Amino acid sequence: MRVPLIAGNWKMNTTVSEAIALIGEMRSGLDKIDRVEKVVCPPFISLAAVGEAIKGSSIRLGAQNMYFESRGTYTGEISPLMLVELCQFVIIGHSERRQYFNESGEIINKKVRAAIKAGLKPILCIGEKLEENEAGQTEAVVTEQLESALVGVGDLSGLVIAYEPVWAIGTGKAATGEQANETISLIRRSMANLYHKEAARSLLILYGGSVTADNIAEFIKQPEIDGALVGGASLNADQFLSIVRQTAKIKG
Ligand code: 13P
Repeated sequence: MRVPLIAGNWKMNTTVSEAIALIGEMRSGLDKIDRVEKVVCPPFISLAAVGEAIKGSSIRLGAQNMYFESRGTYTGEISPLMLVELCQFVIIGHSERRQYFNESGEIINKKVRAAIKAGLKPILCIGEKLEENEAGQTEAVVTEQLESALVGVGDLSGLVIAYEPVWAIGTGKAATGEQANETISLIRRSMANLYHKEAARSLLILYGGSVTADNIAEFIKQPEIDGALVGGASLNADQFLSIVRQTAKIKG
């Protein structure tokens, strides 16, 4: 019922020429894999070039962030109206944005609403910090992040949630499949309480945090995990291809 999704978050990596080279290495391999939605999220300045390089393929494109206004005097910002011409997805509320750029729940909510309004599919990131995890606050933290991000959001179609425990991002210390599955089923239950059971059941929820070709199977085997948001390993064509291939084999 839920088509698995693997998204590569390239973060602040790759120049335009490097981005073109990287997508060139992956394009034909990725295009051949079906039953999995494949999304790459390069930096803003490479969206157009990567979009050109994947034209006619089954690969989809995402941005890593956006501002919530459509246009105006916001020097340096990128709007949903601009993105919708270039890509289908947009990552919102990544923990790096929350941490380094002070994005609050309120700002993230504005971005989620603006993305949906523009016709973009938000990949909403939520996840607890190490100290919150150790204090047994995971459920409270992710529930609060969900509730604040989704104020005024009525329709969940197109929304994707990524559970990314902050302690697992870029650390090489991934959650276990069981841990991730447990928190993701809790997220699905919260969504069923906030919306309808049916909407929650068809919602895609991904795991993110130190996913590699070596551990992807552990996550994908879990019933509640619908795919992954991959950082570092998405910058390596062989790794990313292997992650998508294993996903298709297990869940596709
Ligand atoms: P890593 O896969 O590098 O841990 O990054 C995860 C992430 O933040 C994806 O958005």
